[in-house]
Amino acid sequence: MLGRIGTSRDIQASVLGPIVRKAIKITDKFSKHSADYLVRSEATERPNYAYCMLVAARLAKSLGMDRISAIEIGVAGGNGLAFMVEFAERVKADTGVTIECIGFDTGEGMPPPESEKDLPYWFQASQYRMDVDALKKRLPEARLVLGNVKETIPAFFEDFDAAPIGAIFNDTDYFSSTRDSLSMFDHAVSHPERFLPRIPMYFDDILGSTIEMYGPFNGQLAAITEYNERSENVKVHLNQNLLSLNHVKYRYQIYYAHLFAHPRYNEYIGNDEQLVLEDKLKLR
Ligand SMILES: C[S@@+](CC[C@H](N)C(=O)[O-])C[C@H]1O[C@@H](n2cnc3c(N)ncnc32)[C@H](O)[C@@H]1O
Repeated sequence: MLGRIGTSRDIQASVLGPIVRKAIKITDKFSKHSADYLVRSEATERPNYAYCMLVAARLAKSLGMDRISAIEIGVAGGNGLAFMVEFAERVKADTGVTIECIGFDTGEGMPPPESEKDLPYWFQASQYRMDVDALKKRLPEARLVLGNVKETIPAFFEDFDAAPIGAIFNDTDYFSSTRDSLSMFDHAVSHPERFLPRIPMYFDDILGSTIEMYGPFNGQLAAITEYNERSENVKVHLNQNLLSLNHVKYRYQIYYAHLFAHPRYNEYIGNDEQLVLEDKLKLR
């Protein structure tokens, strides 16, 4: 009963939505709910991350892959990475797809801003410092790649030993750090097998407050625009499928990367009945 109520779009969008989500979170402590149910009811700490992980795992499954990576860029205290590790277990139970969780961070907080596009009026060097030892102890299942992404991303792809990248969460705040993170797709030209052909992405620093004043000329949005202008075979765009769901708070922060030159990009997945059914459920 709770299952049907919790995932109905009308209930989700009504005043009852938060109450139902709370009830689902409480009952989850006694009997673990499925990844699918938690995504549709949004009853998780990070429904945005959960959504991307499940969508990526389903795509992997429909392509016959049983292992992918989910990457968080900008880890700080590690609560996002901790959520990923926990939710990966549920996704595996639902789909059979294993998700390796990888976090990229300087380990020392924000680097100095490079220009006005990094919003120096709001972000500062050394903000969001990580306790590296504590985080390693807390999350032995996750892999941490420490250093500035400008250096660590090229090095990571040089010695690439991870499962294909399926979902990416970018919470690096700056224009410059987001720009350098997006350069990871440059490696898809020579090594497409390191990625899924389409990748759900979450960008944290897109909505913000009247102090931040994010827009197309600064921060993450400017980095996405600049990336699309310079990239031919990979394009990153705002999702269209969540935009009509007013109750989905993160709907303006989910993007999709299309790797058009990926050898599996054109592979037909419309005959995957389960995938089509699940997608309809989400969108009804
Ligand atoms: C807002 S915090 C991340 C918060 C985290 N995602 C969470 O949900 O708890 C931003 C993080 O991005 C990292 N960061 C920013 N620019 C970076 C860069 N160029 N290379 C590596 N890490 C970077 C900072 O070290 C900082 O820890």
